[in-house]
Amino acid sequence: MKVLVVTRSGKELLKGGIELNDSATVSDLQEAIHKRTKKYYPSRQRLTLPVQPGSKERPAVLNSKKSLKEYSDGNSNTLTVVFKDLGPQVSYRTLFFFEYLGPLVIYPIFHYLPVYRFFGYKEERVIHPVQTYACYYWCFHYFKRIMETFFVHRFSHATSPLSNVFRNCLYYWTFGAFIAYYVNHPLYTPVSELQWKIGFGFGLLCQLSNFYCHILLKNLRRPDGNGGYQIPHGFLFNIVTCANYTTEIYQWVGFNIATQTVAGYVFAVVAAGIMTNWALAKHRRLKKLFDGKDGKPKYPRRWVILPPFL
Ligand SMILES: NC(=O)c1ccc[n+]([C@@H]2O[C@H](COP(=O)([O-])OP(=O)(O)OC[C@H]3O[C@@H](n4cnc5c(N)ncnc54)[C@H](OP(=O)(O)O)[C@@H]3O)[C@@H](O)[C@H]2O)c1
Repeated sequence: MKVLVVTRSGKELLKGGIELNDSATVSDLQEAIHKRTKKYYPSRQRLTLPVQPGSKERPAVLNSKKSLKEYSDGNSNTLTVVFKDLGPQVSYRTLFFFEYLGPLVIYPIFHYLPVYRFFGYKEERVIHPVQTYACYYWCFHYFKRIMETFFVHRFSHATSPLSNVFRNCLYYWTFGAFIAYYVNHPLYTPVSELQWKIGFGFGLLCQLSNFYCHILLKNLRRPDGNGGYQIPHGFLFNIVTCANYTTEIYQWVGFNIATQTVAGYVFAVVAAGIMTNWALAKHRRLKKLFDGKDGKPKYPRRWVILPPFL
């Protein structure tokens, strides 16, 4: 079979196309493109079928596991595919590792090192117990997230654009420094002991629940990440689609009850906004996938992220 690989502007990426045997898969084609171009490794490539000029249809992305024959209409021996360079890629584990490493390292610097001298506070700092517990709580949270990234999550998307590493690191590292600066500040006024104990106790319970939610999500997939999207069930997933985000938001509420800083609340609101958007999309996807037609189960009635509001 001959495959013509064209760019989105219609130019041939590889002069004369590529000859592959009839049983070749999309993955074989991607390997062949990589071999010829050297630059475009498979996860950098997005291959689609051409669409009619002026059509509003979204181009169908080729599935790397499928055979090329499935995409060539009838017995045609030539297939044209459209190539898009997705740019340099990194694995999801690399992306998550770097975004979580920043807050894990930056926060204790503010707690343990004399950084406030550089901000004009020359006197010895009095460290309140709540500030030390906040540091433990924070580090436990990000350490847990890194461990989950490597030992729990079963990602379906192989890679993410390298540019996301810079964007996400900017978000997590800046917020980490912003909150650490205020919670560890020499002029920080602690809340009552009862209040911070309730805050951390509640937050810790939510962190453990969040971990359990991630175990339930992990069990929906095979170890190689295959298995697609399933209906999550058990524990809080019986009432809310994104129980992992719900518990994530509440654990930040716990942290803020204990530490009471504007910076902490701003982060919680921004994070809740981001997760709400993602949760709405995940809820829609599951409702579409499990529509109750053709023998598929119907997605049960559930809250999206924050019962009883949404
Ligand atoms: N503070 C913040 O700003 C913030 C923001 C986002 C996340 N987080 C935390 O980081 C954690 C991970 O975030 P995330 O966005 O990666 O969470 P996520 O998309 O809900 O997924 C966690 C893992 O479960 C898989 N999964 C989700 N739904 C599934 C389903 N229905 N069937 C099968 N597998 C499913 C995902 O697969 P895919 O690889 O296919 O997605 C992913 O590998 C969150 O739970 C939260 O605790 C914090």
